[in-house]
Amino acid sequence: MPIYNYGSINIDHVYRVPHLVLPGETLSSHHYRQVLGGKGANQSIALARAGSEVFHIGRYNVADQALVQPLIEAGVAAEHLETVNEPSGHAIIQVDDQAENSIILYAGANHSFTVTDLANSLQAAKAGDWLLLQNECSCTQAMIELAAARGLKIAFNPAPMNAAVKDLPLDKLSLLFVNQVEVCQLLNLPTEPLPTLEDLVALLQARWPDTLVVITLGSKGAASVYQGQLEFVPAVPVQAVDTTGAGDTFTGYFLHAWMQGQSLRAALERAGKASALCVQRVGASSSIPTAAEVDAFKQ
Ligand code: RIB
Repeated sequence: MPIYNYGSINIDHVYRVPHLVLPGETLSSHHYRQVLGGKGANQSIALARAGSEVFHIGRYNVADQALVQPLIEAGVAAEHLETVNEPSGHAIIQVDDQAENSIILYAGANHSFTVTDLANSLQAAKAGDWLLLQNECSCTQAMIELAAARGLKIAFNPAPMNAAVKDLPLDKLSLLFVNQVEVCQLLNLPTEPLPTLEDLVALLQARWPDTLVVITLGSKGAASVYQGQLEFVPAVPVQAVDTTGAGDTFTGYFLHAWMQGQSLRAALERAGKASALCVQRVGASSSIPTAAEVDAFKQ
């Protein structure tokens, strides 16, 4: 079953720093690397490495052809990759010695899509195919509505979260990927203290009764809430060096397993292993493991 991923393509400028830079501070970095990133591109690579047939709908600057090479090498279909004159999206990423990160985004070409462009990109999509999207491209609402009108199943990862997300037609989603803070923002709940997973079950069931909600819990693990049932799988304990892209790896691997008909527990476990491998490597797209690496991973 094919999946269309409408997602960002970024140049990630990754700086290793002793600590995240403070207001007014000038800080020397001790390592610099430029890699393909963007939540969209990372999630396409994770889907492809997991084994999915994935069509990435994305744009980048005409001079950055080399940028998308890792997408192609991972097996992502290129029909809907386009070059434009706008600068490519990019991210300035600091990663400190404790593997903490901070990210500044510039949307660039990721915000060049119009509703007409998106309608064209879905012309070959059939009812029952999947659409995945994140919150780094333009016309998100229109894309959800277009896909729903064609009968696609829609998975959404509303990252990076902003106020506009609450106004999106989230009732059209089959699958929602959120972290604990994001789910609180969507449900208008306080984050201090965070609600328990048990508390969230009834609230999510009432708000989106037909949507599978996957909640990532960072180093604690991940949970799913579906049809009033909670599944929780603890994280695989590993020494993280860089968590950038771990959530994207989780999303791609989870979605692939779910689309294959695996149980929620099996999908959470598979995605947890993939992201445990990811955090032990530096970079975003470059740190996403292959299916063979996840198969071989011993906890
Ligand atoms: O999720 C990690 C990604 O977020 C980075 O690759 C960066 O480009 C931003 O989109």
